[in-house]
Order: sequence, then C-alpha cells, then structure tokens
Amino acid sequence: MDIPLTSLRSEFPILSNQTYLISNSLGAMPRSVFVRMHEFAETWASKGVKAWADEWWEMPITVGNEIAPLIGAREGEVSMHPNITTILAIILSCFEGIENGRRTRIVCEEMNFPSLIYLLRNWTNTHGCELALVPSRDRISVDTQEMVDAIDDRTLLIPISHVLFRSGYIQDIQAIIQKARKVGAYVVLDAYQSVGILPVDVGRWNVDFLIGGVLKWLCGGPGGCFLYVRPDLSGTFRPRLTGWLAHARPFDFDVSEIEYVHGARRFLNGTPAISCLYAATEGPRMIRDVGIDRIRENSVRQTSMLIDKAYELGFGVRSPRDPDQRGGTVTLDVPHARAITRALIERNILVDFRAGSGIRIAPHFYNTDSEILDALATIREIIDTDEFEKHLNDRTTVT
Ligand SMILES: Cc1ncc(COP(=O)(O)O)c(C=O)c1O
Repeated sequence: MDIPLTSLRSEFPILSNQTYLISNSLGAMPRSVFVRMHEFAETWASKGVKAWADEWWEMPITVGNEIAPLIGAREGEVSMHPNITTILAIILSCFEGIENGRRTRIVCEEMNFPSLIYLLRNWTNTHGCELALVPSRDRISVDTQEMVDAIDDRTLLIPISHVLFRSGYIQDIQAIIQKARKVGAYVVLDAYQSVGILPVDVGRWNVDFLIGGVLKWLCGGPGGCFLYVRPDLSGTFRPRLTGWLAHARPFDFDVSEIEYVHGARRFLNGTPAISCLYAATEGPRMIRDVGIDRIRENSVRQTSMLIDKAYELGFGVRSPRDPDQRGGTVTLDVPHARAITRALIERNILVDFRAGSGIRIAPHFYNTDSEILDALATIREIIDTDEFEKHLNDRTTVT
C-alpha cells in the first residue's frame, strides 16, 4: 500500500514552521540536499581538480539522466544548464546563419514568461524576423485555435509554455505540435510549470525541444535547468552559442572550427555550475519515487477544493475551473492582492503576487488540505480586518 503523501512532510525542513504554498516558484528543499551539498564540498576539498575526471565532467548529462524519466526521455538525451533563458538562446543560435527556407516568423503566446519574450524580441529584431504574440482574451488562457491559426509556412519556431505561469492554464500542445509539423516549424515546449506536477511525455507528444527546470515543482533548487532535443534532430543542429564542452575532443584545445560531439553534450558550452547540480537530484528522485500520477491526482483534488472554497469566500479566481485545463497553480483575483500577499508572508503563509493576475497559490504533494483552507480563511480575515492596509505602500517583491 502507498504511504500517505503527508508522511513525507518531515523530509522538508521548511514545512515545520511555514505554510509553504509556493512550489510553482521555488519548491521546498528536501532535507537530503544538506547531505548532497556537503558531498560537493567534501569532493572539492579532498579531490580538488581530480573531481572533474571522477564525476564532475559528466554531471550535466548524468543529472540529465535523472530528469529523463520524468519527461519520457531516455538516458543521454537531456543536458543541464543554468537557466531557461540561456537554453532558449542556445536553441535560437541553432537557427542562426542558416537559410531555414527563409522562415521569418516566431509565434508564441503573450502569456509566455517575460524573460523569454525579451530574448525572442531582441533576437527577431536583429535577425530580420517577426515575433507574433498571440493575445489572451481573459488573462487566464490562450485560445488554441488562435495559436494554431498564427502558425503558418513562414513560421520557424514556436516557443510556448505548456502551463501558463500566471494562471496554471494547460495549453493544448498536441494541437499546436500537429500544426507545427504540418507547416514544418519547430516547437520549443517550456515545461517549467508542468514537470513535477503533471505527466510529461516528449516521445508521445513528438516534441522537438523541451526545456524546464528543477527549481519549482521538482524541488531541486536554482541552477538546474534542462534541455531535451528530439534525438533524430539533435545531430542536425550546430548551436552558434557553443563552447569547449560541445567539442568532440575538448582536451585537444584545438582552435580550428568546432567539431561537435554527438548527443545532448553538443548543446553545452562553458564550464557547468557543478554545485547546483549536486542539489538538483534530490527533489526529482523523490518525485519519481512518489509517482507523477499520484502527485497529479492529489493536485487536482486539492486545487479543486481550493477553487470551490475561494468562490465560497467571495474571491475571484483567475485559473481554469476545468481540472483538465489546470496545472498546479490557482490564482486568486482579489482587490489589494499585493498588500494581502505581503500580509500572508508576514504570517509565514508563503504565496506570491503577480501583477495583472493576483495571488498565486500552489500546493504540492507535501501540503495538507488544512494548510490550504487555513490560507484561504486567513485571506478572508486579512480583508475583513483591513490588516492589508498597512502593506498598501509596500512595493517590494521578494517572491
Ligand atoms: C514558464 C516559465 N518559464 C521560465 C521561467 C524562468 O526562466 P529562467 O530560468 O530563465 O529564469 C519561469 C519562472 O521563473 C517560468 O514560470
């Protein structure tokens, strides 16, 4: 019989004194990360430079192998990088300097993560291309038909979020991928808000590129982002943003044109941030052990309960009501949401505020139902007692 999910709470130190409902931003740290970070320091202290040959050199791929089962990939198909924006820059650089049948259009949703839009806009501006941003009509979702219609035979790339960070809306990526295939465009699926809380399967979906990170739902800390490239395509790309780790023989230190290595390693560039990779494995291991279907089932139950209770308490909700269209986040639309969030944080109830959306609440497998209900009751109290008023001028954003 499965152990109750809440029996794992003791593995996460922060849960003993905070109501941690913010795993869509930074997942709680598993206790075993203390051991891994100590191992990193011990290895550095005792082995010094020999650590590279023993294990560090391979870590961007061996840690990728720990992520692979969570996205339906195989060993050797995933590489690790410091953040998603850099990964997108690497992907874009695969399309520089080649004709691509004169494809000049990049299509993505306006609700995509801004960091990626900044990069896409700069890239399209400097490469004679056009960035088509598909708007959201309700600030919750993106109409699939509008996305599909925006993709045409001029389209080169479609970098989209699987789950929107503002509302938790799950895009119909299969319809988008199908259209991309039809016109010969590539899809870059940002699964940062889905891996760890939803089943993800690159093989079944036939995704060209999948990008994500361990920071959020995978409880792996900052600096552990991952890139999967469809294995039959991988060898055709020559990323311009490259470096010695992508070379077939890096220790030749040859300065003639780079000879790319095969496999996931060809998307690497400079020296990897090894300490982050030590921390990155513990959360994903735990999530694999618990099982993603079980996590999803619990998440749907808890977010449905959250939405029902929010309506009962008179709050607006900016997340889909239909659980099939909803990831792990529920966004509440209440007046003075920023100030209320500050008041919640002061009471050690950790959630966040996103301008233009509201208060994001993101329970994970380690949260209890009563934590969620208590957080909602506290919001009601903060409003009813005007407690939020003392935070009205507080513009700090820390989460
Ligand atoms: C969907 C999504 N993509 C990307 C990011 C961040 O990207 P980066 O790793 O470049 O900071 C976030 C949140 O931090 C996100 O929610």
